[in-house]
Amino acid sequence: VNLLDGNLLAKTIKQELATKVEQRKALGLKIPHLAAIIVGHNPASKAYVNNKVKSCHEAGFKSSLIELSDTISQSELIHEVRLLNSDPEIDGFIVQLPLPSHIDEQEVTLAIEPMKDVDGFHPSNFGRMCLGLPCYLPATPFGILEMLRRNSIETSGKHAVVVGRSNIVGTPMSILLSRKGWDCTVTLAHSKTKNLSEVCASADILVAAIGIPNFITSEMVKPGAVILDVGINRIDAPDSPKGSRLVGDVDFKNVAPKCSWITPVPGGIGPLTVAGLMINTMSACEGIFHKHD
Ligand SMILES: NC(=O)c1ccc[n+]([C@@H]2O[C@H](COP(=O)([O-])OP(=O)(O)OC[C@H]3O[C@@H](n4cnc5c(N)ncnc54)[C@H](OP(=O)(O)O)[C@@H]3O)[C@@H](O)[C@H]2O)c1
Repeated sequence: VNLLDGNLLAKTIKQELATKVEQRKALGLKIPHLAAIIVGHNPASKAYVNNKVKSCHEAGFKSSLIELSDTISQSELIHEVRLLNSDPEIDGFIVQLPLPSHIDEQEVTLAIEPMKDVDGFHPSNFGRMCLGLPCYLPATPFGILEMLRRNSIETSGKHAVVVGRSNIVGTPMSILLSRKGWDCTVTLAHSKTKNLSEVCASADILVAAIGIPNFITSEMVKPGAVILDVGINRIDAPDSPKGSRLVGDVDFKNVAPKCSWITPVPGGIGPLTVAGLMINTMSACEGIFHKHD
């Protein structure tokens, strides 16, 4: 089995971006600047956002973190979004999800200026993605595609099974893999899928984005398949110093010996999601989206 090392690839991508930043500096051009809005004190969200800020620093990007109280009203939050929309210093920004239950996430996403929507969640970006127009790809599927491309993993004509149909991972992943250039035949599976084991076992490429620890077992995997594990699940681990540890949606220990390529958790898709966001921010700064519009 070949391990798809997300940490290593993310490091390479950040180095490439850092070189671009240096080149821009030498030419007197603007340095990419990513802003992140975080609402409340969700520890997982905080960890994700801190990672994004740290990665910006490593690549020489500027970053701004806007921390807001979980008592903020919907209109106050939308006001913050509009401030970033109109701030010429900010190339792109994200609003870290999930938001507190009194806030309508869709309304907030709709308020983001699509040209600055580096998470690619705005319907305008999503629609452009579906039509193959220039856009910001959602960071996690983007990271997965980079993983496949940079490891020269053949996708053309392959049967890809994506398990999970979230708006941010499963659904866009299934669309992208089916498009020209990637050329997979795609099955999008979910909680109502019948015979899920058989469906998964027919996959040449299996993307697991479910959120259930070790859900994909070795019986569900075709020998030689490519396994991309998006899941990030914290489970009890009394023997570890923290008392818990992160595992994916794939039973790594038993699946790894059976497949050709597999992503570990942690250190697989997670770091590439951040890398995808950074590539989008560089594109926003370069104005690529505008030029091809
Ligand atoms: N690596 C990263 O950077 C990254 C980024 C985002 C998310 N994640 C992780 O990825 C996982 C999925 O997150 P998400 O936001 O994409 O998904 P989500 O919104 O939590 O949705 C889960 C999906 O899994 C499906 N599902 C649930 N139980 C199932 C079952 N028994 N059989 C088949 N399908 C089932 C659901 O089907 P229904 O639609 O029918 O309910 C749903 O489509 C989580 O662990 C999350 O933490 C990681």
